[in-house]
Amino acid sequence: MSSLKSSGLRIKELQVEYKSGQLALGQMNLNLPEHAIYTVIGPSGSGKSTLLRAIAGLLPGYDGELLFNGKSVHDKDTLIGLVPQNYGLLPWKTVRDNIRIAMRIARPGSGGRAEQEAQISQWLMSMGIADLAGRYPLSLSGGQQQRVAIARAFAILPTILLLDEPFSALDAITREGLQQIFIDNWQAHPATTLFVTHDVEEAILLGQKIIVMPSGKQDVPEIIDNSAVFGMKHEAKRESGAYFEQSKVIRKVMMEKW
Ligand SMILES: Nc1ncnc2c1ncn2[C@@H]1O[C@H](COP(=O)(O)OP(=O)(O)OP(=O)(O)O)[C@@H](O)[C@H]1O
Ligand SMILES: [Mg+2]
Repeated sequence: MSSLKSSGLRIKELQVEYKSGQLALGQMNLNLPEHAIYTVIGPSGSGKSTLLRAIAGLLPGYDGELLFNGKSVHDKDTLIGLVPQNYGLLPWKTVRDNIRIAMRIARPGSGGRAEQEAQISQWLMSMGIADLAGRYPLSLSGGQQQRVAIARAFAILPTILLLDEPFSALDAITREGLQQIFIDNWQAHPATTLFVTHDVEEAILLGQKIIVMPSGKQDVPEIIDNSAVFGMKHEAKRESGAYFEQSKVIRKVMMEKW
């Protein structure tokens, strides 16, 4: 196999069954090139969160192979940032501490204290939550917690970034603003990214390709090229003909697969 072919995240015949014996994710194959971003949509229960958990190493087991640049994705060289569906913040730590702890675990011994504090402030500022640094997660709204979780995931500068419906708790306008902030941050630090959303519009606005998960576990995901929309300036996407055409394509696939 050429090195080019094995570069990035490679998902080979991944299949997950939980203890109950129920199939949570049917056979999945995917090549996600390094520094690419693909979005994942699918009906509730189609295994989107399970896919991210498998990659993040949070499942006791799975069938198949998960490789990054030819080595197991769970190898210590591969740093994985996950924004879980329930935010995953430590409730007894402040916002700033949540981010600091993640940075220390991810990259022990890197950078001085002052530098690290400045970086935390910068990430909080980029997500528009600088004023929440001293607050505790449970005193924040769902949308604010989501923003903390996203700031934390970016702050560790992960090799692979996994986001599980990170904007689901946000109103439409805040969400649009954060999509722009997210894509700006991602372009500055293009981790190899899988972005799960239940929102078709968001999938088209953010992904180079769109993975449409089937509802039937025997069926395979459909992978749709989205480079025409992805190549445009973010502000122009929503109003474009390419976006409109892509919405029609995706809805047709959804009608068949869901
Ligand atoms: N811890 C668990 N134990 C047993 N079954 C589980 C567990 N977590 C998920 N499942 C089952 O696995 C299947 C896939 O769940 P998963 O959470 O991955 O779906 P999803 O696509 O993320 O759904 P949603 O859009 O609602 O978040 C579902 O049938 C679910 O009931
Ligand atoms: Mg889920």
